[in-house]
Amino acid sequence: MRKIPIIIDCDPGVDDSYAIALANSHPEFELVALTAVEGNVPAVLTRYNCLCLRETFEMENTKVAYGATVPLVRQYFREISVTHGEGGVGGIQFEAPTKEPEQKEAWDVIYEEAVKHNGELVLFAVGPLTNIATCLRKYPDLPKYLKKFVIMGGGTFGNVSATGETAEFNIWVDPHAAKEVFEKLEVYMVGLNATHAAAVEEKDFDEMIEVTSKGTNKASDFLNKLSKFSKENSFGRGEDNNVIHDALAVAGEIDPEILNYKKYYIHVEDREVKNVGQTIVDLEGTSGKEPNCWIAMDVDQPKFVQMMKDMCKYYAEK
Ligand code: RIB
Ligand code: CA
Repeated sequence: MRKIPIIIDCDPGVDDSYAIALANSHPEFELVALTAVEGNVPAVLTRYNCLCLRETFEMENTKVAYGATVPLVRQYFREISVTHGEGGVGGIQFEAPTKEPEQKEAWDVIYEEAVKHNGELVLFAVGPLTNIATCLRKYPDLPKYLKKFVIMGGGTFGNVSATGETAEFNIWVDPHAAKEVFEKLEVYMVGLNATHAAAVEEKDFDEMIEVTSKGTNKASDFLNKLSKFSKENSFGRGEDNNVIHDALAVAGEIDPEILNYKKYYIHVEDREVKNVGQTIVDLEGTSGKEPNCWIAMDVDQPKFVQMMKDMCKYYAEK
């Protein structure tokens, strides 16, 4: 059976790490490349984390390529992330990576692989869209070589307090990139409406911890530590759920029954105003504008959680 070639553009990141682990565990995916972008933590860390995650999950044939370090226009100030912990992946210390990244930049690798796979490549973007926008600027014909483009980002509400919870983080970091991407590509958007509906409960994290504690390899050991961090970081801080945003975007391509997409017109606010980065969704169809984005609005949360547990079992038994 021909595998589906995929690339994950990411800013690891705790939930990016779950997404990478899930994609790598799926037998029908060929994880062609991880491309790093600024986001949860500075690019120097997202790049390092991509190299380390590749070796943690023994993804021998996966390329790692470095992309943007700053957004297209907006300033980037982040040094650390409370949500994602020291280093950006739950404070987990990796063994030093032994393999180098590609010499080519992320956008060149994305385009070359899209052309090589001639319409079969599924591109995921689970961080700010700077690399994708840059790729589209350099290669305007990228869309014809992609099978599907799936992002984690946006929503009818946000998670960035500076915007009054109107903007979602990935879009907020680089709204100019997002605006260009939404104008040039057909986007399948897994936003906060879906990810929050798919939130994992404490008992589920307990099970993921239990399952991975039985593993005797570095992947299960990593997922054990990551699950412990996720549990402590959300429930320990008094939050009532932990949202593994990025993994849901991947899960929806593994089992299409997990997400139900509907098409809406979406506007990205890229002006430097209070709600900069907001994705304004025309739910009522009153804008008079043609719907331009598929948005995941309904989720099968039990199916998603079970998929996360099955992933943990996969690595524990490797
Ligand atoms: O808003 C959630 C998104 O922002 C996720 O992709 C998370 O990793 C952060 O990048
Ligand atoms: Ca991310």
